[in-house]
Amino acid sequence: MAITILAIESSCDDTSAAVVRDGYILSNLIAGQDIHRSYGGVVPELASRAHQANIVPVVDQALARAEVSRGDIDALAFTRGPGLLGSLLVGTSFAKGFAMARQIPLIEVNHLQAHVLAHFIKDERNRIPSFPFLCLLVSGGHTRIIVMKSHLEMETIGNTIDDAAGEAFDKCGKVMGLPYPAGPHIDKLAHEGNRNAFRFTKPVIRDLDFSFSGLKTGFLYFLRDRLKEDPAFIENNRPDLCASLQHTIVSILLGKLSRAAERTGISEIGIAGGVSANSGLREALIKEGELRKWNIFIPPFSYTTDNAAMIGITGYYKYLKGQFTGQDVTPLARI
Ligand code: KG4
Ligand code: ZN
Repeated sequence: MAITILAIESSCDDTSAAVVRDGYILSNLIAGQDIHRSYGGVVPELASRAHQANIVPVVDQALARAEVSRGDIDALAFTRGPGLLGSLLVGTSFAKGFAMARQIPLIEVNHLQAHVLAHFIKDERNRIPSFPFLCLLVSGGHTRIIVMKSHLEMETIGNTIDDAAGEAFDKCGKVMGLPYPAGPHIDKLAHEGNRNAFRFTKPVIRDLDFSFSGLKTGFLYFLRDRLKEDPAFIENNRPDLCASLQHTIVSILLGKLSRAAERTGISEIGIAGGVSANSGLREALIKEGELRKWNIFIPPFSYTTDNAAMIGITGYYKYLKGQFTGQDVTPLARI
């Protein structure tokens, strides 16, 4: 019998609902929140209020798009964390209410695991990684190297000691006057620039860990010095600045990923999370993969930034193992 799961994602500033049947996505709706744009970053209190306003219409649309009714739903999967507590609380409360009203199982999902499991969504390509799977998870809040031993067994072997890669894009973009989130804007501008125009120092961090706060500070000081000589330095050099910055971030990420592949001997390799939409990172991974004979996995754009489809696929694998959650569950800002 088919298993139909309604999934909810509300960890940051996107309210998303998806319907997943037997590992295939029937619908995946995302309501973004423009309200944060003028603040240059996500304002947690405004995010939770927007989730409250969005969640019911987004779920209704996800059900309608999937052509299923509330009675067809076998389980409710939701993001328990990590994320913004107020935002998580909206999704968790909705999930509990829905599951209780329909008398169906509730499934809590770890947002990071879900980003990685987005690679296991079934579709017409049917190209799915085998285990062990090594995945670079790069988002606005996280930069990790993860080994998946099975769908539900995940080990973090590298982590950032300060900022995430997405934060480096966003914060450096902010000082260049780009709108939030700056990652996609930097990506676009980088196409017109020379990646070797400027050199930024890469951090020396032990093992498989990352650090991006030094790069951000170095970038800020570099601009401050150049602006003293030429007040129009940013306007005159934006594409070159973006291309050079992106090249530096991508080479830090790929350097560590290659080291992780050597150390673990794993050659099934993927990227996940919002920054995995970056075209420089995608191209560099393809090249490195050809060179090192990796079997690489790059997610479709719709599954890179936060979405409920990835929560639904994780919920599906947890459903198969009977991993359900009680009504006493509370959200976790950190996991
Ligand atoms: O996974 P995500 O939607 O949210 C978190 O869980 O954090 O990731 C959002 C991050 C932001 O920092 C955004 O700037 C970055 O992903 N991002 C990109 C691109 N698209 C989104 N960074 C670089 N290039 C892109 N094309
Ligand atoms: Zn995310």
